[in-house]
Amino acid sequence: MSRYNFDTVIERRGTICAKWDGMEPIFGSGELLPMWVADMDFKAPPEVIEVLRERVDHGIFGYTRRFAPYREAIAGWFERRHGWRPDTEWIRHTPGVVPALAAAILAFTQPGDGVLVQPPVYYPFFATITGRGRRVVENPLIFTGSRFEMDFEDLEKKLEDSSVKLVFLCSPHNPCGRVWTREELERFAHICASRGVTVISDEIHCDILFGGARHIPLADVSEAIRDLSVTTVAPSKTFNIAGLSTAAVIIPSKRLRDNYQSVIDFLHIDGGNVFGTLALEAAYTKGDAWLDELLVYLEGNLGFIEKFLAERLPEIRLIRPEGTYIPLLDCRSLNLAGPELQNILVEKGGVALDGGHWFGTGGTGFVRINIAAPRSLVIEGMERIGRAVRSLGKFPAEDNRSFQA
Ligand SMILES: Cc1ncc(COP(=O)(O)O)c(C=O)c1O
Repeated sequence: MSRYNFDTVIERRGTICAKWDGMEPIFGSGELLPMWVADMDFKAPPEVIEVLRERVDHGIFGYTRRFAPYREAIAGWFERRHGWRPDTEWIRHTPGVVPALAAAILAFTQPGDGVLVQPPVYYPFFATITGRGRRVVENPLIFTGSRFEMDFEDLEKKLEDSSVKLVFLCSPHNPCGRVWTREELERFAHICASRGVTVISDEIHCDILFGGARHIPLADVSEAIRDLSVTTVAPSKTFNIAGLSTAAVIIPSKRLRDNYQSVIDFLHIDGGNVFGTLALEAAYTKGDAWLDELLVYLEGNLGFIEKFLAERLPEIRLIRPEGTYIPLLDCRSLNLAGPELQNILVEKGGVALDGGHWFGTGGTGFVRINIAAPRSLVIEGMERIGRAVRSLGKFPAEDNRSFQA
């Protein structure tokens, strides 16, 4: 029996949201079906909304602090969901994961240093690296035809350069949808630890897992990598509360923790948002049942998309994600350059998707689709993508049957 409803379409236009109200400057039209930015078109869990409502009713929104139950909620969540309990002393604050990445750049590197990334990858990684004069060093993922894998030999080679001071791991990987296996992480950790390089492990997507995939926190892989790791986590993707600007950073090494904290103190961003603080605690203590149902629903959306593509649009393939609700669609058979592909989807289909080329090396020919929406919107989105592809005239005429999910 379902306790939660993910089918209801909730109007988001006019709610100052980035996904629906913020489309026009990016896609040239505000009238598209947005399947881009990584938030969900579902309400947050009622258990979270209830706590926020109580605070709204209280009516005083002064400065806030985080206390022991807050850190305990984070540690308890990771222990329950991912079999790893961080020491609550290791937990530090950030208003978002990207600000934590930027703080890490300031804390652990100097201008001119290299920072290694594994593209195609979440594009703000690049801007945080170059924004203060650090260099992007690429260790591109290898596409095997069905999934993306790490290129360990290239990783070793790139880390021979002693000016590479930091590595950004995206785990699970956005947009490639990989949930790295223990074997892969052990090999990765071994290479990084033998070089003694600090690793930021961005684990913001760690709760969105499919098909029995298990997330392994990097810090749990070996003692050596634990002491070099800075792990970013957040309830924002999992519970659709990104607008509450609250995330956490887990740093086992005291030296790295103190360096990170000094930047956060300097920027004076340790205070926190009262709603975000309460929402994190509620989500991580009361959100399990909601998340379990959400994952089943999202897996249903993936199944629908695969069926739709197989029956109606075989030119395009879903790169089946092991995790994340923002998988790639392989559109390489259309032979279109990245911006051209994205424009056709906008102009002929009326659908806004992240262009694969936004994610750097290896992304061209793919688009990223956000599947975290009520099934009816996902159906509408796939029909729009189909219309755009048929408009190219290279493939059989448009199939106008309405698709049964
Ligand atoms: C890998 C990754 N890191 C960070 C973020 C954003 O984090 P925040 O909104 O907390 O800055 C996203 C959002 O899509 C993401 O995919």
